[in-house]
Formats: sequence, C-alpha cells, structure tokens
Amino acid sequence: MKNFHDLLFNRRSIRKYKDEEISGDDVTTILQAGLASPSSKNRRPWNFIVVEDKKTLEALSKCKEFGARPIESCALAIVVTADPFESDVWVEDASIATFAMQMQAEDLGLGSCWIQVRERFDRDANLAEDNVRAILGIPDDIRVLSILTLGHKDEERKPLNEEECLWEKVHIGHWRAQE
Ligand SMILES: Cc1cc2nc3c(=O)[nH]c(=O)nc-3n(C[C@H](O)[C@H](O)[C@H](O)COP(=O)(O)O)c2cc1C
Repeated sequence: MKNFHDLLFNRRSIRKYKDEEISGDDVTTILQAGLASPSSKNRRPWNFIVVEDKKTLEALSKCKEFGARPIESCALAIVVTADPFESDVWVEDASIATFAMQMQAEDLGLGSCWIQVRERFDRDANLAEDNVRAILGIPDDIRVLSILTLGHKDEERKPLNEEECLWEKVHIGHWRAQE
C-alpha cells in the first residue's frame, strides 16, 4: 500500500474469506495496532479476545440476529471488550482500537469486517453482548463493543470513490442548513 490515503480508500468490509490461516506474525502486528491505539487519559480500558476455534466462531456468528454471519467463515476473530469502570468513554476507546486493527489488517492485505455487538439483539431479544459473554466467559461487568473478523479475502470490492465523498457534510466556519 502506497500511503495512508490509499489505505483508507481501499479498505472495504470483506465478508467472504478463504479457508486459510493468518500467520502468527500478522496476528501479532494486528494486535499491536490495537494495543497502540490512543485512549482517553491513556486508560487503555480494552481487552482483546482472539478466537480461532471453528466451533466458537460458529457460536459467535449466532450472537445476534442480523449481520454476524462473516464470523462463521473468518480465519480468526478479535472480540473487542472494555471495562466501563476504567473509562467513561470506553465506547470511543474500543472503537478506535477496532478501527486501528482493521486498518492494520488492510495494510497486511487481509480482509476484515466490523461486527457490531453493543446494542444488538438475537432473534429472541437477548442482548448480543450477553451471548458473547456466555460463549467466552467474559465477566458481567466487562462490555463487548465489537467483533473484528479477519481472513484472506475471498471477494473483490471496489475501492471507495473520492467523487462520492459527501462534501455537504462539511461546514466551513459555522453550521450551514441543507438547502
Ligand atoms: C460501527 C459499525 C458497525 C458495523 N456493524 C456491522 C455488522 O454488524 N455486520 C456487518 O456485516 N458489517 C458491519 N459494519 C460494516 C458496515 O456495514 C460497512 O463499514 C459500511 O457498510 C461501509 O462499507 P465498507 O466498510 O465496505 O466501506 C459495521 C461498521 C461499523 C463502523
């Protein structure tokens, strides 16, 4: 990848993965990106759970009703949790960590997808967070933000198009109402 701008525009959510492992070095590099991500007051309230076991991935793919299917076929998932007692802005901290790992994966040529867990429900209206906690033995007071799926890409996605940036979302100097 040439530069950060290209990396940003080339990253797309990848939901289909080859049946191929991710090297240990790449997993380490991706986790380093999460561990190096900035956090409010440098509290670093997150914990990352690395899951490779196929049965566990299958169970996690059913943690919510919609949108968790990529977990089933990914090579590895990183479950992003945080301790809300360590930081009142744990959502922001855990989001930045998820995104940092996603971008690092892209830089390594790997596919990834952010699977939302917080505020999501399964088909019986149980909280997806509770389901993930039960599957992985996460304590009740630890929150689960997301699951980052990772794997070798098995689908081609076009890069984002600079022409499609919503410049009307940018206001110069003061808020400008939409016409
Ligand atoms: C906060 C957040 C939650 C997301 N949750 C899911 C999800 O649960 N399942 C899924 O397949 N994709 C999920 N995505 C991926 C988005 O659908 C995707 O980023 C968006 O459609 C733009 O497509 P792109 O990533 O290919 O550019 C999520 C992305 C973000 C940032």
